[in-house]
Amino acid sequence: MLGLGTLARVANELRRDITAAHDRDPAARGVGPTELLATWPGVQAVLSHRVAHAAHEAGIPLLPRSISTATRALTGIEIHPAARLGQGVFIDHGAGVVVGETAQIGDDVTLYQGVTLGGTGFATGKRHPTVQDNVTIGSGAKLLGPITIGHGAKIGANSVVITDVPPNATVVGNPGHPVRVDGRRPEGPDADWIHLPDPVAEAITGLAGRIGALERSVAELSGGRARPAAEARPLRPIRGPNPAGG
Ligand SMILES: CC(C)(COP(=O)(O)OP(=O)(O)OC[C@H]1O[C@@H](n2cnc3c(N)ncnc32)[C@H](O)[C@@H]1OP(=O)(O)O)[C@@H](O)C(=O)NCCC(=O)NCCS
Repeated sequence: MLGLGTLARVANELRRDITAAHDRDPAARGVGPTELLATWPGVQAVLSHRVAHAAHEAGIPLLPRSISTATRALTGIEIHPAARLGQGVFIDHGAGVVVGETAQIGDDVTLYQGVTLGGTGFATGKRHPTVQDNVTIGSGAKLLGPITIGHGAKIGANSVVITDVPPNATVVGNPGHPVRVDGRRPEGPDADWIHLPDPVAEAITGLAGRIGALERSVAELSGGRARPAAEARPLRPIRGPNPAGG
């Protein structure tokens, strides 16, 4: 059952959560703890999750899910009572955040609105992401499956991340891919995700060349004039700088 030790731990975690909101939300500067507790949905959701999780760990029936359902209705943030949250977790704005049953979130992690830490299907067992300490996850990002997000990583808004993310990496896009690791652009043959080869355009260009050669041969044999070779343009316009810096 819930003992004094558990209550002391929850109180300490609550202090860290309020400090996290002060530190990481510019709008919270100068706002007192009572106002934060009363009006910051992210703070409310994390606090009530801590109570729901303690009740879940204590084996209390019904209460954990009731708390999480009521919190979802109040804040738009759904955290499964079994999910593990570290200290100093801050959910900014909150609406549309989903944290699945086997998700683990480390210390000092920031989540913006619309973040999903979800599964990829109907797998059982560990099927949600593990997020290490000091990670920031941008609004609308979907992190799917039992992947690990390394400490200090930044996940760009609206990214879809389905593979592990190295520590201190910045990951953006769908599928999410690193554009910075330890502050530097990743390098190597697989680092350029923008200037990818276009195999369809290459195949059409090859065929157009061979048809042009055939037309010239036929024109020579029949005494006519060969038409200019057909032009094959890349189907997918390439934009943006090379992320490998090349
Ligand atoms: C990913 C993020 C953390 C990167 O910030 P940063 O460390 O300052 O990095 P940069 O802005 O230099 O971006 C690095 C590269 O990723 C690209 N990028 C950044 N964010 C991106 C995103 N969400 N989607 C796609 N590409 C993105 C940049 O264009 C840049 O590309 P380049 O290497 O070709 O120049 C930030 O852009 C982001 O998405 N933060 C989430 C903020 C948020 O959700 N706010 C909600 C407030 S309500």
